[in-house]
Amino acid sequence: MTSGRHVHPETSSISEGYDPSLSVMAVRPPIYPVSTYCFATAQQAAHHFEVALGKVAAVPGERESLIYARLNHPNAEMFEDALRSVERGAAACAAFTSGMSAIVTVVLTLAKPGKKVLYQRPVYGGTDHFFRQMLPEWNIDAIAVAEGEWQEALAEHGPNLAFVYVETPANPTLQMIDLGSLRAEIDRAVTDRHVPMVVDNTFLGPVFQSPLEHGADAVVYSATKFLGGHSDLVAGAVTTRDPELVARFKTMRAFFGTICEPFTAWMLQRSMATLWLRMTKQSKNASKLVPLLVKHPAVLRVHYPSLFEGEQARIFQKQCRAPGSMIAIELRGGREAAFRFLDALKRVLIAVSLGGVESLACHPRTTTASEMSDDDLRVSGVTDGLVRISIGVEYWRDLAEDLSQALDAAAG
Ligand SMILES: Cc1ncc(COP(=O)(O)O)c(C=O)c1O
Repeated sequence: MTSGRHVHPETSSISEGYDPSLSVMAVRPPIYPVSTYCFATAQQAAHHFEVALGKVAAVPGERESLIYARLNHPNAEMFEDALRSVERGAAACAAFTSGMSAIVTVVLTLAKPGKKVLYQRPVYGGTDHFFRQMLPEWNIDAIAVAEGEWQEALAEHGPNLAFVYVETPANPTLQMIDLGSLRAEIDRAVTDRHVPMVVDNTFLGPVFQSPLEHGADAVVYSATKFLGGHSDLVAGAVTTRDPELVARFKTMRAFFGTICEPFTAWMLQRSMATLWLRMTKQSKNASKLVPLLVKHPAVLRVHYPSLFEGEQARIFQKQCRAPGSMIAIELRGGREAAFRFLDALKRVLIAVSLGGVESLACHPRTTTASEMSDDDLRVSGVTDGLVRISIGVEYWRDLAEDLSQALDAAAG
């Protein structure tokens, strides 16, 4: 289904994974709302099962057969090919029903009872909840590591370590982690085997950041966000350098039943065609709005990668191709000012989630991060006055007008 020739991601995001000759020469892919696929003969069915179960090798040149839609289906395959083609360093990809099902599937593939997981906070609230509240029930310990304490943590937990998990930029404060340095630190601490590093790249996506080129083994996405890009679907994805690793995730996915269903996979593939356009415009919009936010007297601090200083600025320069469209602002006057700001917004909608064509804003402390303890909130920099804004593709001056009047309202 793939062209095999290397083309720029702006091209492959539109065409990779789809062969019109397999679908009555339709220019764009159809949807296959099909649960099961038939075989020409009983012998062929038996052969494809043996291949799927790894009992015999596929005949050279033979395509993996479609069997049953919980295992695989054309729309998932086409989206996976498109995402793989734009993720630098990726050899394989798997599509999931949500970002969380991708994360849970990856975690339970890599970690077994008695093992440990190290991760750096902040991470998305759902991930944090799963790590801290639920993994211990499987006798897997997820230990949060504070910035600058990796060496110590790796030395202590290295022998039992299943994998390392980080989110960069992190939700909601955009704090960044130097992936290359962390990879080197892991390899220095654990020398008898390779410890996988899993990176949540939801905020910058394959357009602006390529974790696999900085030592990550698996990249996870909430495809609900920029990959889908229209706030009209829930999905997830994982890319890897090693096809064997994705094969393991897909085996687990088949039993969890967490494959993205055909209609959603079709919508995702359609969205891939505009991923570059959308993310580039969103990032440009955000960059134009940031000076206005910085200057407003109601704003104490703006978290945005191009404003970073010191070590965070160094990581941004080294690892990212653009600052993206997520902004966090800290308002003077804490929660009251944050709520006044949100309530005054006319065009930007108050909603969790992010990465869609429309601009959204939320108050993490009382929504997405509301389950974090006071101590974690402090360490993660999630203050009462913090508002997270996802900038869309609207005309930036309309957004500027809306944000300015809402900041005036926040100032009281
Ligand atoms: C950074 C990040 N990772 C993962 C997730 C979970 O994704 P989903 O909601 O698609 O399950 C989210 C959701 O907000 C997120 O922001």
